[in-house]
Amino acid sequence: MKALVTGGAGFIGSNIAKKLLEMDFEVRILDDLSSGFKMNIPEGSEFTEGSVVDGELVKEVVSGVDYIFHLAASVGNKRSIDNPIYDATVNVLGTLNVLEAARSTGVNKLVYSSSAGIFGELKTIPIKEDHPRDPDSPYGVSKLAAEKDCLVYMKLYDIPVVCLRYFNVFGVNQRFDAYGNVIPIFADRILKNIPMTIFGDGEQTRDFVNVKDVAQANIKSALSDATGVFNVGSSTRITINNLASLMESVSETSVGVEYGPERPGDVRDSLADVSKAQASFDFNPSGDIEAGLSEYMNWIKSDPITIRRNDLSN
Ligand SMILES: NC(=O)c1ccc[n+]([C@@H]2O[C@H](COP(=O)([O-])OP(=O)(O)OC[C@H]3O[C@@H](n4cnc5c(N)ncnc54)[C@H](O)[C@@H]3O)[C@@H](O)[C@H]2O)c1
Repeated sequence: MKALVTGGAGFIGSNIAKKLLEMDFEVRILDDLSSGFKMNIPEGSEFTEGSVVDGELVKEVVSGVDYIFHLAASVGNKRSIDNPIYDATVNVLGTLNVLEAARSTGVNKLVYSSSAGIFGELKTIPIKEDHPRDPDSPYGVSKLAAEKDCLVYMKLYDIPVVCLRYFNVFGVNQRFDAYGNVIPIFADRILKNIPMTIFGDGEQTRDFVNVKDVAQANIKSALSDATGVFNVGSSTRITINNLASLMESVSETSVGVEYGPERPGDVRDSLADVSKAQASFDFNPSGDIEAGLSEYMNWIKSDPITIRRNDLSN
């Protein structure tokens, strides 16, 4: 079986590609390396450097594959507010290129990486798939538009599609960047031995899902008969205060925390209801955040890119 992973040099895509290779899939990766790293690409995959915005190239790499895992995207709310045109170009037009190519060749399944960012302000928890979708950023809008395009192509052209809405993903190959998530930011602080900054009182909760579980959701849903939209989280939540203490404890260090003003637009609580994914393709997240954080901290301490970056910035 042959799979294409767009965005396979990125954090989540590289973990999916690795798992597919372990399962004896032939893996092709399309990535423009705009936020991914060559170093992430697992050995044994066939790599094409290029953009999903290039429709002809997308047709070439889609040709002959049985499954498509579409992750290539301009990721993050802030990035999209800084550059909404680029965000829509990659996330919407790029997805249409993938769908057009899938339509002309035919695939067993297209798994699209969507985001809980499509929900916008959270009104009820746990969050089910039918929670109102009212995004707060151009990124949320583009992820929702691309999700809708996937579902429309399924209706019009019978392409089996799964859209997975990830909550806060963490794990190996996730590095600190200017648009980073809280876990890489706290890890960066721990490595530099400076206090972690918490905005607000730290009692806000988040659903952190291990990237291994996200890879599991991608592959299980691809191989199942399931189609449609699914939430992918850990179905557990922890406070940011607890996250900070856990990260100190697994790192056997104590850098402390400092509190800053609450950030406008930050949601108070988040928790995915994953029962639909559980029932449809036996999604079974580990939920052991401590073990996941321990593995993450061990990895980041030995990551050459992080080590180089910290040497430069010190
Ligand atoms: N990390 C999270 O918590 C999270 C949450 C919800 C959804 N997602 C979604 O998961 C997917 C992967 O995100 P990630 O966290 O691994 O981010 P990432 O930035 O590590 O991965 C994205 C990859 O896509 C590549 N890419 C970007 N633009 C491209 C283009 N035009 N053509 C080809 N490749 C391109 C990047 O180089 C990178 O390797 C994205 O679709 C994102 O929207 C992530």
